[in-house]
Amino acid sequence: MSKIILECKNIRKDFRIGSQTLTVLKDVNLVMPERSWLMLLGASGSGKTTLLNILGTLERPDSGELNFDGRPYSEFNQVALRNREIGFVFQSYHLLPELTVLENIMLPAYLGKNFSCKARALSLAERVGLKDRLAHRPGELSGGECQRAAIARALINSPRLLLADEPTGNLDAATGDGIMKLLAELHGDKSIPLSIIMITHNPDLAKLGDASCELVDGQLRKR
Ligand SMILES: Nc1ncnc2c1ncn2[C@@H]1O[C@H](COP(=O)(O)OP(=O)(O)OP(=O)(O)O)[C@@H](O)[C@H]1O
Ligand SMILES: [Mg+2]
Repeated sequence: MSKIILECKNIRKDFRIGSQTLTVLKDVNLVMPERSWLMLLGASGSGKTTLLNILGTLERPDSGELNFDGRPYSEFNQVALRNREIGFVFQSYHLLPELTVLENIMLPAYLGKNFSCKARALSLAERVGLKDRLAHRPGELSGGECQRAAIARALINSPRLLLADEPTGNLDAATGDGIMKLLAELHGDKSIPLSIIMITHNPDLAKLGDASCELVDGQLRKR
C-alpha cells in the first residue's frame, strides 16, 4: 500500500458572525495516498476554499485531526509545514507586483532562509515555459504566464503537497488547458513525489485527477 501523505478526520469549522454560527465543514474525512491527485468540487459557498486553507494551515479547524505524512500537524512547526511541505496556487495568482518573475519564484525559498535557490528557480522557470520572461514583472505578463510563475513559486521548496484553488478559474479555456497540462506533467514526473488537491468547478477538468469528491452539506462525498 502506498504511503498516506495527508489524512483528516472529523474536521469541523464554524464561522461566528455576531450571534449566528455558520457551520461550513461539519465532518470532513479524507485519506490521501502520496502522489495522488484529488479534485475537489462543490457548489459556491460549500466550503472548498475553507477546507483547502485548513489543510494548508492558513486557517484552523474547530475540531478534528490533521496528519501530514503520518504525524499530527501539531507536531510540525506550522510555518515550516506551510512553507516547505505545502505549495499553494490561487485563482488570482497572488504574485508580488513589484518583484520580477525570477524573484517571485525564489521568494518562498528566501522566506525559508535558503539563499542558494537560483539554479532551481531558473530550472523551474524553464520547466513552466518562462525562461524568456525572468525579468518581467507580473503586470507585464499574460494571465497564463502569471499562473505559470505562481506554479513555479509553489514548487521552489520541493513541497510534497500542492494545494490549488481554481488555478484555471481566471483563464480562457485554451490557456487553462495549458496549465492543466503543466500540472499533469509535474504530477507525472517520477522524480518529484508530488500530491495535488485541486479545487475546480469544471467537471471535465475534475476527470483529469486520480479521484474526485464533492463537498456537500459540510461533508466530502466520493464522486
Ligand atoms: N472568514 C469568514 N468569516 C465568516 N464566514 C466565512 C469566512 N470565510 C468563509 N465564510 C463563509 O463560509 C462559506 C464557505 O466559503 P468558502 O470560501 O470556503 O466557499 P467555496 O466553496 O470556496 O466557494 P467558491 O466556489 O465561491 O469559491 C461561505 O458561505 C462564506 O460566506
Ligand atoms: Mg473558493
